[in-house]
Amino acid sequence: MKGIILAGGTGSRLHPLSLAISKQLMPVYDKPMIYYPLATLMSAGIREILIITTPQDHQLFRNLLGDGTQLGCRFDYATQEAPRGIADAFRIGRDFIGGDKVALILGDNIFYGSGLSELLKANTDPDGAIIYGYHVTNPSRYGVVNLAADGRVESIEEKPANPKSNYAIPGIYFYDNDVVSYAADLAPSRRGELEITDINKAYLQDGKLRVSILDRGTAWLDTGTFESLMQASQFVQVIEQRQGLKIGSIEETAYKMGFIGAEQLRSLAEPLRKSGYGEYLLQLIPDA
Ligand code: TTP
Repeated sequence: MKGIILAGGTGSRLHPLSLAISKQLMPVYDKPMIYYPLATLMSAGIREILIITTPQDHQLFRNLLGDGTQLGCRFDYATQEAPRGIADAFRIGRDFIGGDKVALILGDNIFYGSGLSELLKANTDPDGAIIYGYHVTNPSRYGVVNLAADGRVESIEEKPANPKSNYAIPGIYFYDNDVVSYAADLAPSRRGELEITDINKAYLQDGKLRVSILDRGTAWLDTGTFESLMQASQFVQVIEQRQGLKIGSIEETAYKMGFIGAEQLRSLAEPLRKSGYGEYLLQLIPDA
């Protein structure tokens, strides 16, 4: 399975913070935001990843993440000229996806929890589509999924005024290769966007949509407003300081997943020692 990180957009809810810099490069405590979704895909075993950015931010992402070989991965880049919607990722990524299955994650979504990477790994060969459900207080801001008692999907609605359930659909989606043709055939919605919800509805109509519920032990944070960005930073700080373990470290994930060995981790860590980040990476290596 390949992966796509969608990291374009206007970030208008963070203006003026995001006027000159992409939201997805902003700090979430001790690392750039995009590290978190990238580490999430990597922890599912996904190593070929397309990073979609705005044209003006593209070079900054390349400076930060390179071609991925340093992490035992392959990163490709593409640009989205205008925020035409989340499902646009599968049009832009068509050649990259080729004949493979693909996971899409939004560049401003943070996931953390025990068992999460096992759950994601188990979903990397979908027959159809696998989306996730996450219990939230106010689902009206999101796509909302309504499940029958037997777990069948009854409906999916985009930002409903009167949601039928409390299960929001977070920004991570796994698809078989049909997603490419579904996206190609998609018409823009009334708000002028290519909606991921319409893709999911198409799979639902074909009886090929499955919902995997993220349990209450999982944290799902988005970071699109001043409050949620600050809260995400605080969340990461609290957990990291308490446990002495990092959330969303791409170097640690590459090492733990076996994408790189101890020597490569050491060379990634050396230039980062002064901030303490490098020291953290170095202590992951057992004494020879
Ligand atoms: P949103 O938060 O819906 O949009 P935004 O990031 O432009 O922010 P705002 O609403 O404040 O203007 O986007 C969710 C994620 O998806 C975010 O990481 C940006 C990305 N995105 C794109 O890259 N292209 C798009 O066309 C859309 C709609 C979103």
